[in-house]
Amino acid sequence: MREPLAVRWRDRLQLPHDMPLVSLGEGSTPLVHAPRLSERLGLDIWLKCEGLNPTGSFKDRGMTIAVSVAVGEGARGVVCASTGNTAASAAAYAARAGIEAAIVHSRGAVSAGKLAQARVHGARLVEVEPGFDAALATAREIAEREEFAFVNSLNPYRILGQKTAAFEIVEDLGAAPDVLALPYGGGGNTRAYAAGFEDEGTLPRLVLGEASSRVDTLASAIRIGEPAHRREAEAAMSRSGGLVVALTDEEIVEAQRTIAREEGIFCEPASAAGFAALARAGVEPGSRVVCVLTGHGLKDPPQ
Ligand code: F0G
Repeated sequence: MREPLAVRWRDRLQLPHDMPLVSLGEGSTPLVHAPRLSERLGLDIWLKCEGLNPTGSFKDRGMTIAVSVAVGEGARGVVCASTGNTAASAAAYAARAGIEAAIVHSRGAVSAGKLAQARVHGARLVEVEPGFDAALATAREIAEREEFAFVNSLNPYRILGQKTAAFEIVEDLGAAPDVLALPYGGGGNTRAYAAGFEDEGTLPRLVLGEASSRVDTLASAIRIGEPAHRREAEAAMSRSGGLVVALTDEEIVEAQRTIAREEGIFCEPASAAGFAALARAGVEPGSRVVCVLTGHGLKDPPQ
């Protein structure tokens, strides 16, 4: 059995030993070598398969901690705004904890599978006008009005839990990679990886893939106009000597297909943005690279 990440990394995260733990067995995801992608780009590429977390995305890493803390503080429920994966995760962990979940999402913006996850777990769905920013404002209002814990990545426990992916990568490779490639939506995950690697003593060069058309990209998980963590994420990227690559939807879909056909791993479109960015990042040949595949392909399948 794999230990929940809150148990495995309890001391590193400085979690209290008497914290009530709400867990679904998250973390300890496979780091899979990618020989064909490596050959294609002249690099040594590894794929961190975050789609194998309990609800199918990396969001579970932070949600286990955020919901555990909320339960410890006596919250009646949790609330978040989401492009879908945070929603699915919050709904599942709230169900596990026996508390309510309210999910705020923009009309037409969330994939059917992610909405189904939230519904199946019994969450209350609140639909608002298009735009992630409007959803975030409504989620804050609900948090205040109903005294629900706010579990977007602006909740520091979310970032804390997400740091554990960096610890696992260092453990698996024996050292930090030269480059970390990942999608850039709101920037919370970038911030979490940077903090995790900096705890370990080495920050890899951060290659961030964002949608060039943030507000209406086909990669619905990263359809976010204004990143909530822009300042911290881009500061970490600069500190690392990295870069942000703006990608067309065609580049994102092509990267998703390449990963699926050449390595047998199906990730959702947003999750392929890191690999798509890599091809344009001018990385030194032979570098060791970890591409973070943030969510499973079944979450947002091609139509
Ligand atoms: N990949 C996937 C599959 C995501 O669901 C998200 C964000 C990201 C990448 C970007 O991560 O925002 O930390 O830069 N999804 C959020 C959600 C916004 O509501 O599920 P980020």
